[in-house]
Amino acid sequence: MSKNVIFCFSGSGNCLDIAKNIAAKLGDTDIIMMRKTPEIMDVTDAKTVGFVVPCHAGGLPLSVAEHIREIKLSPEAYTYGVGSYSGYFGTGLAQINRIVPLKYWAGISHHCSCIWLFPHSVMMPMLSAEDAEKRSEELAAKIAVDVLTGKMSEKEVPDNPINAIENRAWPVLAGKKADAFAVSDECIGCGQCVKLCPKGNIHMYGGKAFIGTSCIQCLSCLQYCPTGAISIGAVSKKRERYHNPNVTAAELMQPVIHID
Ligand SMILES: Cc1cc2nc3c(=O)[nH]c(=O)nc-3n(C[C@H](O)[C@H](O)[C@H](O)COP(=O)(O)O)c2cc1C
Ligand code: SF4
Ligand code: SF4
Repeated sequence: MSKNVIFCFSGSGNCLDIAKNIAAKLGDTDIIMMRKTPEIMDVTDAKTVGFVVPCHAGGLPLSVAEHIREIKLSPEAYTYGVGSYSGYFGTGLAQINRIVPLKYWAGISHHCSCIWLFPHSVMMPMLSAEDAEKRSEELAAKIAVDVLTGKMSEKEVPDNPINAIENRAWPVLAGKKADAFAVSDECIGCGQCVKLCPKGNIHMYGGKAFIGTSCIQCLSCLQYCPTGAISIGAVSKKRERYHNPNVTAAELMQPVIHID
C-alpha cells in the first residue's frame, strides 16, 4: 500500500487530472478509481486519504457514497476532499464529510461535462479550455502543498439543503436521462465505449454500440467516443464534446493508477 491514496470518480477526466496533479507532488500515491466498486477498500496503512469527486446534480455521483461507506482507513490518517464542479460546488463533500470526517477541503471549477444541460464552456468564471486547465493545475499544486503540510480547513465543508434535495432526486432523473441515449451511424464499432462503461451497460450488435439503461451518467462513453456518435437528447447532438486533455480513455479504465 502506498503512503498516500486518493479515491477518485471521473467521467470526463477533470477529477482524474486533478488527482494525478496532486499525486505528482505528493509522490508514492495510489489513485483508486470509484467509477465501479473500488478494487482497494482497506487503506488502513495510508497516511493521507483524499477524495476527488465531481459534482453531479448538486452532490455525489451515483454509487459513490455507497463505496465510501465501505472504505477502511486509519483514524490517524490525514483526510481531505476536492470537489470539481462547473457552476456550483454542491453538497458532495458534505456527504463525504458525514461518512469520513474531512480535515481539509477545496473546490475547483472546471469545464462542464453535463452536455445535456450546459455547453462545456460554462464554469465559474467562464474561461477558455486552456486557461481552465491551467487554473486547475495551479490549484491542484496548491492543494498538494496543503496536504503535505497537513493544513486544516478553517471553514466547515459547505452544505446546501437545496442541492441536497436536487441530489436526492438524481437517481430517478438519471434513469430517465439514460433512456435518451442514441448511437448514430457514425459509430465505427471500435468498442471503446464498451470497455469504458463502468456499469457494463454498452454492448456491440452487428458492429454497432447499443446502450442500455443501467447507467450512472458518467458520460465517459459520450465524451470519449472518437466519432461523436453517442448523443443523449437533441441538444447534445449539436454540442461540442469535451474531455480533459490530459486524461485518456485507457487511463479511466484502470482500477488503480500508481504515481511515484
Ligand atoms: C451528470 C452530471 C451532472 C452534473 N451536475 C453538476 C452540478 O449539479 N453542478 C455543477 O456545477 N456541475 C455539474 N456537472 C459538471 C461536473 O461536475 C464538472 O464538469 C466536473 O469537472 C466533471 O468532472 P469529471 O470530468 O472528472 O467527470 C455535472 C456533470 C455531469 C456529467
Ligand atoms: S466509442 Fe463511439 S465509435 Fe466506438 S463503438 Fe462506441 S459509439 Fe461506436
Ligand atoms: S452508459 Fe455511458 S454514461 Fe452510462 S455509465 Fe456507461 S459509460 Fe457512463
